Amino acid sequence: MSENNHLEITETSELEDTFNKIVETILVIDDSPTNLEVLYTTLADAGYEVLIEMDGISGIEQVQSNPPDLILLDIMMPNIDGFETCQRLQTNPLTKDIPIIFMTALTDTVAKVKGLRLGAVDYITKPFQQDEVLARIKVQLKLRRLNLELDQQKQELEERVRERTAELSEALAALQKIQLQLVHTEKISSLGQLVAGVAHEINNPIGFISTNLYHADKYSQDLIHLLKLYQQKFPNPGREIEEIIEMVDLGHISHDLPKLISSMKLGSDRIQGIMQSLRNFSRADGLEKKKVDIHEGIETTLMILQHRLKAQTYRPAIKVIKEYGNIPQLACYPGQLNQVFMNLIANSIDAIDEGVQDSKWESEKSKFFSPNKIISTPLICIATTVDRENVTIHIGDNGKGMEAKIRDQIFHAYYTTKPEGKGTGLGLSISYQIITEQHAGTLECISSPGKGTEFIIQIPLQG
Ligand SMILES: Nc1ncnc2c1ncn2[C@@H]1O[C@H](COP(=O)(O)OP(=O)(O)OP(=O)(O)O)[C@@H](O)[C@H]1O
Ligand SMILES: [Mg+2]
Repeated sequence: MSENNHLEITETSELEDTFNKIVETILVIDDSPTNLEVLYTTLADAGYEVLIEMDGISGIEQVQSNPPDLILLDIMMPNIDGFETCQRLQTNPLTKDIPIIFMTALTDTVAKVKGLRLGAVDYITKPFQQDEVLARIKVQLKLRRLNLELDQQKQELEERVRERTAELSEALAALQKIQLQLVHTEKISSLGQLVAGVAHEINNPIGFISTNLYHADKYSQDLIHLLKLYQQKFPNPGREIEEIIEMVDLGHISHDLPKLISSMKLGSDRIQGIMQSLRNFSRADGLEKKKVDIHEGIETTLMILQHRLKAQTYRPAIKVIKEYGNIPQLACYPGQLNQVFMNLIANSIDAIDEGVQDSKWESEKSKFFSPNKIISTPLICIATTVDRENVTIHIGDNGKGMEAKIRDQIFHAYYTTKPEGKGTGLGLSISYQIITEQHAGTLECISSPGKGTEFIIQIPLQG
């Protein structure tokens, strides 16, 4: 090798090294000290860090403790030869990617082929041509660098794919949530439309009844007045009339008719009130929050659930204890809040019913009806309080309660412990969304088996 060549290669190599900021390491495994010396000088001069080993076993140990960037491997060595060494390095996943260049005699074609088959990347022939050795080493090191870069890029790509997948799963979760809201909105709005439609239909006839009752009341009073006047002016109307007066019990009619009409008026007023509450309950919420008295919503919910609160064959009536605080009007989406009250109170009734069934009602009946055991009366307690920041609504029951592992899942969509067809498992997850997302509030649950359940809703006043 000429001095010039040597210099040139050294310079390029140094430049590349500076660029890469690393010195590449080459391990030479050869049992001939002469070969080792020649290679060591050539490679060290070219700027590589050179490690040397004189047999296969120590070569493999060296590779494992101090992995080089490239291995120059002699074939004929004592103990294990170059082929065996190559095979062992290739079967170990940690060392199999380190390129191996065989060193063979110029004419030994069989050895060259065998080496390449075993996974070597190239061969150099003895006696060494320094330029050729360096050129081949450079190519292989470059290939190795490119491979490493490729690996790195592959990993980065995989990382990006993972990130994208995570983004997509997030998007999917968001979509599922929106779907849930849509189902909920659709369910409420169709239910709302139905209730509003029925309320509207009933409104007209009940309107006739209540207006006409007003007139009927007045006419009947006029008639009774007239009758009394007749009786005064004509105390002896004759046998026929006297018989009819007695037969129809005129005294009773004139006494009872006004009472009857006024109770009819009360009834029709009540129906009108109920219809109004139903219309309020089912009203569609606009985009803006409205200021309302939340107690009205709770009352209407209780009214709608009245039939379920009543005594059943398997349990006495559920007693509803109300402790309403002095709550100012709250800016909220009233239709949605009503839905929350409906879900929570309906769940409480279910929990009471299930509790009764669990405790084998028939055999325990006496406990429930015993006046000393007030604790056994099925109860729902609703309390409202307000402080400077929040309105708090407690809805509690003495139903069957929940174990911690159930309680931890109740706000998950589709989680239900009820038989198919009875529960959809959506009630609480929708309620949770309504309170936390639409009203920036909190919804918590305290419960343990046999001790009942309490839900606590907090809604900020400045929502
Ligand atoms: N007050 C309560 N007492 C005991 N368990 C309750 C109570 N409220 C809810 N749970 C439990 O939480 C579960 C989920 O309630 P959620 O209201 O979300 O669904 P659901 O009532 O099963 O069905 P639906 O969608 O028809 O309301 C119920 O199945 C029940 O096990
Ligand atoms: Mg429910």
